[in-house]
Amino acid sequence: MAPIPFILDTDTAQDDCVAILLGILDPVADLRAITMVAGNVGFEQQTDNALMTLSVAGALGDVPVFLGCRRPMVRPWVSAENVHGDGAGGLSMETSGLKTASEHGVDALLRLTAESPGELTIVAIGPLTNIAMAVVKDPSFAGRVKSLYIMGGSNNARGNITAAAEFNFYVDPDAAKIVFEAGFDITVVPWEPLTVRDALFSREQMAEIASSDSPVARFFTAVCETTLEFDESVGIPGSSHPDSMTVALLLHPELVTHSAAYAVDIEADSELTRGYSAMSWGVHGLKPNARVIESIDSAKFFEYIKSTMATVTTPSRPIVGL
Ligand code: BDR
Ligand code: CA
Repeated sequence: MAPIPFILDTDTAQDDCVAILLGILDPVADLRAITMVAGNVGFEQQTDNALMTLSVAGALGDVPVFLGCRRPMVRPWVSAENVHGDGAGGLSMETSGLKTASEHGVDALLRLTAESPGELTIVAIGPLTNIAMAVVKDPSFAGRVKSLYIMGGSNNARGNITAAAEFNFYVDPDAAKIVFEAGFDITVVPWEPLTVRDALFSREQMAEIASSDSPVARFFTAVCETTLEFDESVGIPGSSHPDSMTVALLLHPELVTHSAAYAVDIEADSELTRGYSAMSWGVHGLKPNARVIESIDSAKFFEYIKSTMATVTTPSRPIVGL
């Protein structure tokens, strides 16, 4: 199978790290660039997390890291540090002498898609600020992107940051609204019910992944622990993997068991339901603008993560605490 070229737009913490690992370690992946967007934890911390993840995979310097928008389009930044801590399980790496790319993330998205029109998929696993800014800057952008995979929203179900909203759409609802109206070929990987049912690993499964004891598996265990404890504290009985699932479904579409066309729109006016994703399933006379993933083969997804995390690597730089 020919490698699948894509760009990962990320607010790197916890499962965003796992998504990056798949982009490096899966032979089907051709990860061309990482663009950073404001989301989970402080912007500098997120960037350090992304560089450390590349290092664990032995790929520091192999994939350019572009710094994108440092806050949402209109509103102040909202963090998820209460959920993820530093997003890196307390691990750290000396970053002296390391350089991120000098070009802005939004400009990199515009340039890379102009250089390979119709070839690159974008996998967006944070707030959609960079993607919306690229649309605002160049309306022809959407037409150059092969497809856009989005982790965000809930499919007529509970949110996680509020009753109504999932974090990525809540943080920048204005951006999400722009993106769903821009004409991309969109696949949505929602939080509920999909992630909480099909991409949740029990403590026993986490121990199975850890048992290979590779540097990657040790890193995986460390970066997931804080979020696992948070999930358990709010009644979610396992480690949640929405971002790595999104990359996995691009690389291995056979993992999808059900998906359907929906008309998706985002609430950007109400404070009560800010970031709510209205997903209309075809009976309301609205034109579909996205494919929404409804279920995946969760056993195969777990096996895929377990085997990929067992990959033996030589970290590019030492990781303190690993
Ligand atoms: C999403 O929010 C972030 O905290 C996770 O990385 C994921 O992208 C889940 O709501
Ligand atoms: Ca994320």
